[in-house]
Amino acid sequence: MVEVVVTGGAGFIGSNFVHHALDAHADWRITTLDALTYAGRRENLADLDDHPRHRFVHGDITDAAVAGPLVKGAEIVVHFAAETHVDRSLESAGAFVQTDVFGTFVLLHAAREAPDLRCFVQVSTDEVYGSVAQGSSRETDELRPRNPYAASKAAADRLAYSYWATHGVPVVITRASNNYGPRQHPEKLIPLFVTNAIGQRPLPLYGDGLHVRDWLHVDDHCRAIDLLIERGSRGDAYNVGGGNTTTNLDLTHRILRALDRPASLIAPVADRPGHDRRYALDTAKLRALGWEPRTAFEAGLTATVDWYVRNEAWWRPITEGSPHRVYYERQYGRRERPASA
Ligand code: NAD
Ligand code: DAU
Repeated sequence: MVEVVVTGGAGFIGSNFVHHALDAHADWRITTLDALTYAGRRENLADLDDHPRHRFVHGDITDAAVAGPLVKGAEIVVHFAAETHVDRSLESAGAFVQTDVFGTFVLLHAAREAPDLRCFVQVSTDEVYGSVAQGSSRETDELRPRNPYAASKAAADRLAYSYWATHGVPVVITRASNNYGPRQHPEKLIPLFVTNAIGQRPLPLYGDGLHVRDWLHVDDHCRAIDLLIERGSRGDAYNVGGGNTTTNLDLTHRILRALDRPASLIAPVADRPGHDRRYALDTAKLRALGWEPRTAFEAGLTATVDWYVRNEAWWRPITEGSPHRVYYERQYGRRERPASA
């Protein structure tokens, strides 16, 4: 059996990857290591409780006593665990440095002493390039992260590279664009707007709403990681983008149409400080290995909206839980005024 460690596997992309990988590889035995922060949901993996090739370890990647032995026994490590929400990084950056940078260091340090390790996937992000006024970012472009989340991820991205360059750790780095799909925490744009629209609540659109993101279905990201484990050049970074660049305003209208809700639900609010205007990725390097996104945006978005409609039992306990309500009030209560005010 191939021993695989997935960090952050109880989160959005991680849980989709664990399900994908168990289906795709009959010879993989997966250990999920997750601290179950506010973003980690044990129920995301509940259907795997009796799976013979999966086990869940509740632990923190910054705890070398827990994470070290797991990494040292692995053939493949896929490292998703991170603090991931840009808005939260504006108010409490320390947690991002601790998990995203120091946590990655703990894993890489252990990876030096992993005799069978053949791939360590550092799941990075397109945010490391910073805002791109025109054209699209290539892997060789300068990294210009512009918010504490992006800066922490850029540090981890380059730390992983340095462990390849100096210690030969078989690192492959993915830089993906905005993922969407089932089981994404309702703090993020698409699930936030979908769940608010379902409840006829305002959709807090930052600034003028003309910021551009490139949307990638989570399944396409999972397939890219899978391919890169086998074919990615060690030490290299690969952009993973859906090729679906659109403004937040356009996306908001699409969500409203899918749910048959009025445009009057759109509530422009004060902009995110340092809000990156545009991300866009050149994915030629990954495509040269045979990958292309399979999920058309319109179909993927419709299916995703439908998933949240059908799975209220998944998101309702989050949105109605006290921590999220406190966060929501702190995040949106004070900014619910016109962007021009
Ligand atoms: P998420 O916030 O949904 O999940 C993060 C998971 O990591 C949670 O299960 C959480 O419990 C766990 N975690 C956090 N701190 C931990 C710690 N110290 N020890 C162990 N586990 C910990 O995140 P996501 O959106 O699924 O993102 C996963 C990864 O992909 C992150 O590294 C993120 O930077 C990267 N990424 C995300 C996107 C996106 O659009 N969501 C795009 C590109 C890259
Ligand atoms: O680009 C990849 C990144 O995508 C990942 O690395 C991050 O982990 C992930 O959170 C995501 O970051 P963004 O900041 O792009 O995602 P978010 O869903 O927070 O916001 C998407 C866009 O929508 C962004 O331009 C800000 C805007 N927005 C977001 C929220 C939460 C709003 O207008 N209103 C909101 O309430």
